[in-house]
Amino acid sequence: MFFGCLGCSDNSEASYSSNNKTESPKELFLLHCAACHGEKGDLGVSGAKNLRTSSLRSVEIRKIIYEGKNGMPSFKGILTEKQQVDSLVNYVMTLRD
Ligand code: HEC
Repeated sequence: MFFGCLGCSDNSEASYSSNNKTESPKELFLLHCAACHGEKGDLGVSGAKNLRTSSLRSVEIRKIIYEGKNGMPSFKGILTEKQQVDSLVNYVMTLRD
């Protein structure tokens, strides 16, 4: 008999998606920020400022994300890609009423 190699004719499955690092801004926010600020930005755990009523400009938000402030930790070593921070800054501003 003749064993046709039914399952191994196609190598294309090896092309798994290698770029899974692109989380959406919302996922980044839920992952890194929502514990204190809440999903909608107004949870206020341990003195976290209400992001819905915040009037900070994008440069100031970026600075706080990088450097932290009082009860808020710095995310410098965590959000290493500028693009992630940019999208997060924009996302924070969309939470406003
Ligand atoms: C451990 C809790 C904690 C986490 C996690 C956290 N924050 Fe904060 N955040 C705070 C606290 C506390 C303040 C208030 C700092 C102050 O002004 O005293 C704050 C303030 C801010 C402010 C300033 C608001 C204003 O109007 O002054 C922004 C913007 C902000 N956080 C965004 C974020 C983003 C974006 C993330 C996720 C990358 C995040 N925070 C994660 C606790 C946290």
